[in-house]
Amino acid sequence: MTKSNVESWGTRIGLILAMAGNAVGLGNFLRFPVQAINNGGGAFIIPYLVCFLLMGIPLLWIEWAIGRYGGKYGSHSTPFMLDKMGKRKIWKYFGVFGIFTNIGVAAYYCYIESWTMSYVYHSLIGTFQGKSQTEIEQFFGNYIDIYNSTTGIPYEAVIFYIACLLLNTWILSRGLEGVEKASKIGMPLLIIFAVFLAFKGLTIGTSGASNEVPNASAWDGLNFLWTPQYDSLTNPKVWLAAAGQIFFTLSVGMGTIQCYASYLKEKDDIALNGLAAGFTNEFVEVVLGSLIVIPIAAGYLGLDWVKENAGFGMAFQTMPYLFQKWGPILSVLAGVMWFGLLFFAGITSSLAMGTPWIGFMQDEFNISRKLSAWSFGLIVLILGLPTVFFFEYGVFDEYDYWAGTVSLVIFALGETILFSWIFGIEKGWNEINLGADIKIPIIYKSIIKYVTPLLLALVFIGSLITPLKNDWNSAINSFVSGNGWPLDNSSLIKQISGSAIKEQIENAKTIEEKEKLETKWNYIFFARIILIFTFLGIAFLVFLASKRREKRLSV
Ligand code: ALA
Repeated sequence: MTKSNVESWGTRIGLILAMAGNAVGLGNFLRFPVQAINNGGGAFIIPYLVCFLLMGIPLLWIEWAIGRYGGKYGSHSTPFMLDKMGKRKIWKYFGVFGIFTNIGVAAYYCYIESWTMSYVYHSLIGTFQGKSQTEIEQFFGNYIDIYNSTTGIPYEAVIFYIACLLLNTWILSRGLEGVEKASKIGMPLLIIFAVFLAFKGLTIGTSGASNEVPNASAWDGLNFLWTPQYDSLTNPKVWLAAAGQIFFTLSVGMGTIQCYASYLKEKDDIALNGLAAGFTNEFVEVVLGSLIVIPIAAGYLGLDWVKENAGFGMAFQTMPYLFQKWGPILSVLAGVMWFGLLFFAGITSSLAMGTPWIGFMQDEFNISRKLSAWSFGLIVLILGLPTVFFFEYGVFDEYDYWAGTVSLVIFALGETILFSWIFGIEKGWNEINLGADIKIPIIYKSIIKYVTPLLLALVFIGSLITPLKNDWNSAINSFVSGNGWPLDNSSLIKQISGSAIKEQIENAKTIEEKEKLETKWNYIFFARIILIFTFLGIAFLVFLASKRREKRLSV
């Protein structure tokens, strides 16, 4: 470890806010409501909470423990943390995921983060004032259409993306202090803005109902979300979606928590801190995240509209239009608050994604914090520009699928097995409880050893063989009656083989459609190559680093 990498957290509150900021992100406000709506509202909540208790919390403790343990030996990124725990060479290469995922996710995540920056600006200058719903939708379309953009600033999406990366890199170059400061400013503001908007969401009631949508009611949105439906408990599709959301929202399986925790002292509490950060995230997601987009949209446009249009775009395409119903001043304020809170949510997460790479560069190659931070910014820029320029060709989605979904599950499964079965649950349990400010129920020892890895394995298998249309009953019937297992295009098997898109190309109805799909396939292929080379590049650096370590030991 270099002298420059002996930083530590300034205050406990700073640490918790940084950890909570790492978790609280765009996923809480954009992904959660969409997942909840698409998976049947109240039908989603129970599997979601069960996954939080049986997978989320154990993974938080595992990752905090791995991080603090690694930090003790001077490692601030997962390759050499896992190496120390697992002894076999394979683990340090497995740890590559804990750097790769962050770089891959940061590349596309910062793009959405940059939209929020730009939308704060546009809310402030009144771009959305007086625009119809269709015009605001078109504005978004124009924004992402780099070449024909008519948003007022040439290449606006690229400019804001670069500005966003520069800001991230600059804060990162100031070390943990910079991260801590950003969280101390960003998190409270985010919560204040969210509480304000949630209050509006709660109090719209049926007052938004117009002649066009006479039955619109904000309460319908909330009832839909909060009326539990127990039938979902037997539906693997909902379980997979719930587990996926828990991963993404808690930032587990990424390598960021381990990195942040590695800057703790040997006997600093992790049991209570981990729980505090996790529950802060859940409060922001489940309470605040569900009280904004859904009730406001349902209050003005009706629940049916929300169900039909639930998607990522709602935040950018619909909210600026709906805010206008609150009058000229409040609409500007609401726009600034909404996109401002998304920006704070985003940046406190993307900053965390930079730290494992920086820790790795400092620890293994003696590179200064500043230079490591700028090298991170540069790599993310190179990887991220294709998501900006070729957004509509699926590059963004491809990054999200491999780096932001599949990698998380693989890494979480591997590290849980390592922690519970190879490092050993006895040592692991002691590690979690060392310096603990709470007494963790002993049942969690068995959960961490048996239940969490089992659930993770099921999630992995479920993603591998997702059946056609996510219809598990039909697939099981088909299998039992000897007709094979019909795979969905979203299944990992079909994604890896590329047969999903090839099938689409074969089934294209017109030549134009076929050509369009072929072009898309080329871009997807290009995105995969980039990701594979990134992974291999980091693995090569790990190889070099381990040679350097061997050399250091032999002198
Ligand atoms: N945990 C972060 C989010 O929810 C990545 O957006």
